[in-house]
This record gives sequence, structure tokens and C-alpha cells, in this order.
Amino acid sequence: MAKQPVFKDGQVLRFSTAARVLHTVHLLSFFTLLYTGLARLWPETNVLLGGDLLLGQTIHHLAAVVFIAVPVALALLYPRGALHFLKTLFSWDKDDTRWMIKFIPWMIRPQAVKLPPQGQEKAGQKVSAWIIIGFCLLIAVSGGLMWIAQFMPSELMKWMYAIHDVSMIILLFVIVMHIYMGVLFPATRRSWTSMITGYVPEEEARHGWRKWYDDLKKGQQTV
Ligand code: HEM
Ligand code: HEM
Repeated sequence: MAKQPVFKDGQVLRFSTAARVLHTVHLLSFFTLLYTGLARLWPETNVLLGGDLLLGQTIHHLAAVVFIAVPVALALLYPRGALHFLKTLFSWDKDDTRWMIKFIPWMIRPQAVKLPPQGQEKAGQKVSAWIIIGFCLLIAVSGGLMWIAQFMPSELMKWMYAIHDVSMIILLFVIVMHIYMGVLFPATRRSWTSMITGYVPEEEARHGWRKWYDDLKKGQQTV
């Protein structure tokens, strides 16, 4: 995919085209899976599909293939970007611990609390991404086995259904919080635009991800 300039018109590139494509695909397939999955549990909610349960099931399966295949394909196409993302997510330093301690007071009074400098992902973003990725893996594995349930021991399948449902509930809570932070919370509510354009204002990058921004300025960081 075409490379975009890192600095442009007072803005800094935060997300590559591949990252934005993946995020959009996950966003659309996640809500499709949620709707068609819930329509299985409560058939009366299946109004958008005119109550057609078989159609709902087919769409659930198709969306599941997209949900799993797109990140796998992008990771194979851009292994360096994928490894960089994972390395960023699973790195942790003292500033991350300090950030987590100050997170709740900051949520209550953003102006009064100074957060420690952060790398490419803030500590809270890392923790939320661990939960999202972890439960997406669990929901995908349990769903995959549910798809071939007739060949599996019924005792195992009871667990898979339970894991699928619990993962769905946990993901729903975390994604609602995730959307709240990206769209509604006053200090971060404009950040959703970065998942569309790829860019954030330079001032915001300096303020929110100081260590990453400084490294970018020195040419020592990638996007
Ligand atoms: C990512 C891969 C996924 C796969 C392979 C998958 C597969 C399945 C399968 C095979 C079923 C059994 C019924 C059917 O055949 O339609 C099912 C049910 C269900 N799925 Fe998924 N699914 C996935 C992701 C999700 C996600 C992300 C959600 C919601 C956030 C979800 C929510 C549900 C619900 C609520 C049910 C009904 C469960 C029950 O009957 O107890 N699924 N899924
Ligand atoms: C309307 C729905 C959504 C909005 C507005 C939204 C918004 C955002 C934004 C603004 C970021 C970048 C945060 C940053 O600056 O680093 C982000 C990152 C991310 N999103 Fe979403 N998102 C949505 C749905 C989803 C869904 C459904 C998933 C997963 C199934 C997801 C998974 C992630 C992950 C793993 C990241 C990277 C880690 C992070 O920075 O938090 N998002 N999202």
C-alpha cells in the first residue's frame, strides 16, 4: 500500500493504511457477528433479516471468516508492521505503571492530573488491546469448534458455547468503553478521526504519546 508522509500540515501519521483497513473490517464484522449471534440466542431480535435464522447463521459464518482471515492475511503481507504492533503492545515500563495509577483520577479531572509520557500506545490502550485481542482469539477458537460441533465430544462443546457467550459479553463491555473513549470522552473524543485519516494533530501526539513523538522527530520510530 502507498506510503504516506509521517508529518503533514501540522499532523502526524498514527495509523498505516493497512492498520485502518484492518480496524474497519473488524469494526464491521464484529457488529455483524454480534447481531447475528444474538439473533441466535433471541430469535425475536432477528428483525433485520426478517426472522430468517438460516440466513443469520450463514452471515455469522461468513463474517467469522472475514474476522479471522483479514488480520492473518495482513500479518503475512506486512510481517514487520504486525511484529512492531505486537512488540509495542507487549512492552511495559515504569511510566506505564504510573499512567495506570493516575488513569482513574485523570478520567475524573483530566485538567488537574498530569499523566506520565507514553510510547506509541498508552498503557490503558495496551491493557484494552490485550483484553480485546485475547477474547477475540477465544471467541474465534470456540466459534471454530462450534462450527464443527457434530465431530466434537459434547462435553467439550458445552464449554465452547460457554466460552463463546462469556467472551461475547466481555468484548461487548470493553468495546463499549473503547468506543466511549474514541467518540465521547471529552479529552479523547476526536481520536476516532485518526482511524479514518490515519493522522492526529501534532500537538495531540506530543501531549498524548510523548516518547513516540520524540522518537518520530529523531527519525527513530516507525508508524
Ligand atoms: C470470530 C469467529 C467466530 C466464529 C467462527 C463463530 C462461530 C459461531 C458458531 C459456529 C456459532 C453456533 C451457531 C451457528 O452455527 O451459527 C456461533 C454462535 C454465536 N456467536 Fe459466534 N462466532 C465467531 C465470533 C463471534 C463474535 C465476535 C460474537 C459476538 C461478539 C459472536 C456471538 C455469537 C453468539 C451470541 C452465538 C450464540 C451462542 C449460543 O447459542 O449460545 N460470535 N458462533
Ligand atoms: C465505532 C467503533 C470503534 C471506534 C470509534 C474505535 C476507535 C478506535 C480508535 C480511535 C483507535 C486508536 C486509538 C489510538 O490512538 O491508539 C482504536 C484502536 C483499536 N481498536 Fe477500535 N474502535 C471501534 C471498534 C473496534 C472494534 C469492534 C474492535 C475489535 C473487535 C477494535 C479494536 C481496536 C484495537 C485492537 C485497537 C488498537 C489498540 C488501541 O489503540 O486501543 N475497535 N479504535
